[in-house]
Amino acid sequence: MDFNNTRYIPMSRRRRIYEGKGKVLYEGPEPGTLIQHFKDDATAFNAKKHQIIEGKGVLNNRISEYIFQHLNDIGVPTHFIKRLNMREQLIREVEIVPLEVVVRNVAAGSLSQRLGIEEGTQLPRSIIEFYYKNDQLGDPMVSEEHITAFGWATPQEIDDIMALAIRVNDFLSGLFLGVGIRLVDFKMECGRLYENEMMRIVVADEISPDSCRLWDIKSNEKMDKDRFRRDLGGLLEAYTEVAKRLGILIDNERPAGSGPVLVKS
Ligand SMILES: Nc1ncnc2c1ncn2[C@@H]1O[C@H](COP(=O)(O)OP(=O)(O)OP(=O)(O)O)[C@@H](O)[C@H]1O
Ligand SMILES: [Mg+2]
Repeated sequence: MDFNNTRYIPMSRRRRIYEGKGKVLYEGPEPGTLIQHFKDDATAFNAKKHQIIEGKGVLNNRISEYIFQHLNDIGVPTHFIKRLNMREQLIREVEIVPLEVVVRNVAAGSLSQRLGIEEGTQLPRSIIEFYYKNDQLGDPMVSEEHITAFGWATPQEIDDIMALAIRVNDFLSGLFLGVGIRLVDFKMECGRLYENEMMRIVVADEISPDSCRLWDIKSNEKMDKDRFRRDLGGLLEAYTEVAKRLGILIDNERPAGSGPVLVKS
């Protein structure tokens, strides 16, 4: 398939497959493809907290593109094909494994709360956790026993998912360390990609400051969605800084719709 010739489909004529809290999925230009559209909605605590942060979708689209393209380049299979515009990317349609896979390097958030480990404590080794994707239940944590017993994934698929999670964690940790950011933890989703009678597990959804905990190495300042969860303010500025450090945005580039632009009189 030649994805460089993706024809432009006007928004109004596209078939909307799914609208989630942060993204919309549209039918793609070829069978087996989708268009992933990043919205500006920020949600937390199972959508009990909700706010529009203008420009967030643009930044997440760019940051997620950067990460997924690099994962593809180092041979970690993902759903990502290419970015189409400011808010959209072309992806392969997968059968999402109904799990949120969380990898933790440093104690924070629910791990700190549940186990009484002070935030910021380096963990003895990286820890992988699974949560069952179910908004009604509040995405409960589950074990491999639950996953196999209820048929959400097979033991082989769990092995594949854990191997992918470790590779993604190693790549992201190094990537962020190189730009002065500590990767505390992140969430990823996986899917089954069917290609000529074959099935393999690939990384899907997004990886962005919405789904990672990123702390500045020197100041420990939070550069991720905790700024919204904890009402710290400055979310857009923090995401912009992440993008700049990764070399995605040139210094004075602004994401479209990020607020009023100063005009010299
Ligand atoms: N390549 C893909 N093929 C099919 N579905 C995908 C793919 N990548 C991501 N998805 C799914 O698309 C949806 C993206 O929307 P969004 O992240 O806004 O959902 P959400 O509100 O967070 O809900 P969810 O709990 O399902 O993640 C998610 O349900 C995600 O699992
Ligand atoms: Mg989601």
